[in-house]
Amino acid sequence: MAKNLVLIGFMGTGKSTVGIRLAQRMKREFIDMDRKIEEICGMSVAEIFKRYGEVRFRSEESLLAAKLGEKQDLIISTGGGAVLFAENVAALRKNGILICLDADPADIFSRVNRKKGSRPLLKKNMTVEDIDNLLKQREPYYALADIRISTSGKDLDRVVREIMEVIQSKNLLAV
Ligand code: S3P
Repeated sequence: MAKNLVLIGFMGTGKSTVGIRLAQRMKREFIDMDRKIEEICGMSVAEIFKRYGEVRFRSEESLLAAKLGEKQDLIISTGGGAVLFAENVAALRKNGILICLDADPADIFSRVNRKKGSRPLLKKNMTVEDIDNLLKQREPYYALADIRISTSGKDLDRVVREIMEVIQSKNLLAV
């Protein structure tokens, strides 16, 4: 058994894409928390926010974080706000290593613009500056990560390789 690898970080930093590839490479099960919550609730994240509000989404997120924290051997990608809550950080850290993916605000801006409407916390007419401000507000939470990797200007395989190299060189997987 080995520790979970938990991808945290701002929206549009590549957590889901990197998680899928990392899980393939490491032959582990992959859990995307947002997709799992959608499966449990039978509707999209945007719809949960619209119909029941953010509080309901956050409570589903915390329930799931608590459950996943009991498991091992998983690759988990979190939603960008999951680590804003201390109980989630504690749960995910219990059996896991927190890996924060970072990206430049301009990259985040263009990535989230491609999937307009799926991220209820971002205004329709937001600017790179809005993203930069939100990133700064959230920095203390992302700084809780054990490892940080920038995804800007790197292809997927390079990011995955860097993650695997760091966890191996620091021998972080031992439970
Ligand atoms: C959120 C990020 C989203 C999703 C929800 C809230 C956030 O996930 O969980 O819209 O608070 O940053 P992604 O980071 O996958 O976009």
